[in-house]
Amino acid sequence: MEILRTIESYRELYVDLQGPIGLVPTLGGVHEGHLSLVDEAKKDCKTIVSWLFLNPKQFGPNEDLNSYPAEEKEDISLLDQRGVDILLIPKTIDIYPSDFDTVVKLGKITELLEGSRRPGHFDGVTTIVSKMFNIIQPDRAYFGEKDAQQLRVIQKMVKDLNFPVEIISCPTVRDNDGLALSSRNKYLSIVERNDALSLYQGLHNAKASFESGERNADIVRNVVIQEIKKSPLITIDYVSLSDPLSLVEISGKITPPALLSLAVHIGKTHLIDNVLLE
Ligand code: PAJ
Repeated sequence: MEILRTIESYRELYVDLQGPIGLVPTLGGVHEGHLSLVDEAKKDCKTIVSWLFLNPKQFGPNEDLNSYPAEEKEDISLLDQRGVDILLIPKTIDIYPSDFDTVVKLGKITELLEGSRRPGHFDGVTTIVSKMFNIIQPDRAYFGEKDAQQLRVIQKMVKDLNFPVEIISCPTVRDNDGLALSSRNKYLSIVERNDALSLYQGLHNAKASFESGERNADIVRNVVIQEIKKSPLITIDYVSLSDPLSLVEISGKITPPALLSLAVHIGKTHLIDNVLLE
């Protein structure tokens, strides 16, 4: 794996790269979820480029930028072992020079769900992902369904702004007990980790009730809420049942497909998860 630390060095290599080029971006704290994106990219791309950058603009002032569990050496080694060809680790000063003054901002879709709890978060994501697409110029870019809203936001941005990139969505990778893999799981104590199982349990129960015919949106949301409420350590930020594209909340009867998603705090740790009802 070739490790690059400047945009110029990537540009020099880029002219000789064999396409299709597949891009797998991460903030770091690499785990099997990220690596599954590399596996997907390898199925249909000749060159796999990964991007490792802890993007400060997508973290709020009271969020975990300074403690984010990313270990560069370990991340490099995991991406290398999984078959990434080129890893770009840009410097913050090159990405955001002191005169940097641009925001790529989408509308309504970024104000709902995570956007309502984390003001400015998606502006940070769409700005860095735009820069990343312009720098890497991939044919395909791989994103996880784990971050369902981020995936929709990026798909919408690519459509609205005509980025010549195909967005490939990849299924959520979970631990054997159902907990969705997340870099932030490292923050959880053993007791918190155990309580966190109620997230998947709640989603799983709600999906089962949907599959056995329940179509009332409030009842389905409530299945999740009741399961999570059994765990004293968890505060619910939201449990949402929404249209999977617009993310507008469904009231009354569910007409599938519908996205059932949630965000919670377990102690200081912010976790999200979702399932698609179809
Ligand atoms: P990060 O949280 O590191 O996630 C990188 C990619 O891995 C995202 O597309 C995310 O959805 C995916 N991912 C994370 N956990 C997963 C899991 N359990 N199963 C499948 N995929 C999973 O998302 C970001 O970074 C940033 O916002 C980024 C896009 C890199 C822009 O800074």
